Amino acid sequence: MNCKDAKYLESVMSAQSQKTRVIAITSGKGGVGKTNIAANLAICLAASNKKVVLFDADLGLGNIDVIMNINSRYNLTQVISGQKELHEIINIAHAGVDVICAGSGIAELANINQFQLQRLIDELEELENNTDILIIDTGAGISNTVMNFCTAADNVLVVTTPEPTAMTDAYAMIKVLAARNFDGRISLVVNMANSIPEGKRIYRQVADVAMRFLNLPVYEAGIICKNDQVTKSVKSRKPVVLNYPKAKVTSEIAAMAARLSRNQTPMKKKNSFFKRVVNCFF
Ligand SMILES: Nc1ncnc2c1ncn2[C@@H]1O[C@H](COP(=O)(O)OP(=O)(O)OP(=O)(O)O)[C@@H](O)[C@H]1O
Ligand SMILES: [Mg+2]
Repeated sequence: MNCKDAKYLESVMSAQSQKTRVIAITSGKGGVGKTNIAANLAICLAASNKKVVLFDADLGLGNIDVIMNINSRYNLTQVISGQKELHEIINIAHAGVDVICAGSGIAELANINQFQLQRLIDELEELENNTDILIIDTGAGISNTVMNFCTAADNVLVVTTPEPTAMTDAYAMIKVLAARNFDGRISLVVNMANSIPEGKRIYRQVADVAMRFLNLPVYEAGIICKNDQVTKSVKSRKPVVLNYPKAKVTSEIAAMAARLSRNQTPMKKKNSFFKRVVNCFF
């Protein structure tokens, strides 16, 4: 292969890896609804004919498996240790969404050699190349691990509730993203709002403060009102959009998915998402 051919192939390959859009769902305060939003958004996006992978990056504490009612016996830990191949730990959940649990795997990256690391990155990159949308459910708070996943994403959805503590923690998260020079799109989800106007007001408050003090635009991802159907669905281990397809909450989540699909998030140019994440850890 001559130099020109090699260059062309490289551009085709990088265009391939860029087609995957990575959305990280995070929050400052815990228990604000990230995992429910991640699971239900994934199902809505998959219903619009997108190949969606849901990655549970809440290391050690993840519970997407509970909400999606899957039996995730294996996670990335076994892939890192070489006991399993990546395809063996992928769970096929509702609407054809693929679910991968990180387990405590990422913490073990520090203990593997260069060859094992490269094998892992290769496998994750192959998965990424076959995916339209990768949704990352992170843990709460501004730990290094959470921030590494968020800064590597194209779009970060910060979830808050109308509680003042959740709002200040959401702002703290946005501030850390700014301090890390996050160059993607930051959007706010107001969950458990008592009404849509209240949710809009909360959104505006956070977005105004971010613009005033950080000079950073924070977009509106959507408002989801507080309702019993979410809690009932968690108890029955069936995502609310499938359990109550005609409910108001389902249309609120579907509207958020449609809005996300429409927005042209600037895609990160260099490297695949997983390579960017792994690079952050070293
Ligand atoms: N819109 C809503 N209305 C009512 N209850 C809700 C709503 N969204 C989430 N919940 C409830 O809030 C609880 C926490 O939700 P979830 O586990 O999704 O939060 P989380 O942010 O992922 O938590 P963690 O920080 O522990 O990962 C769940 O029990 C769920 O039933
Ligand atoms: Mg969670």
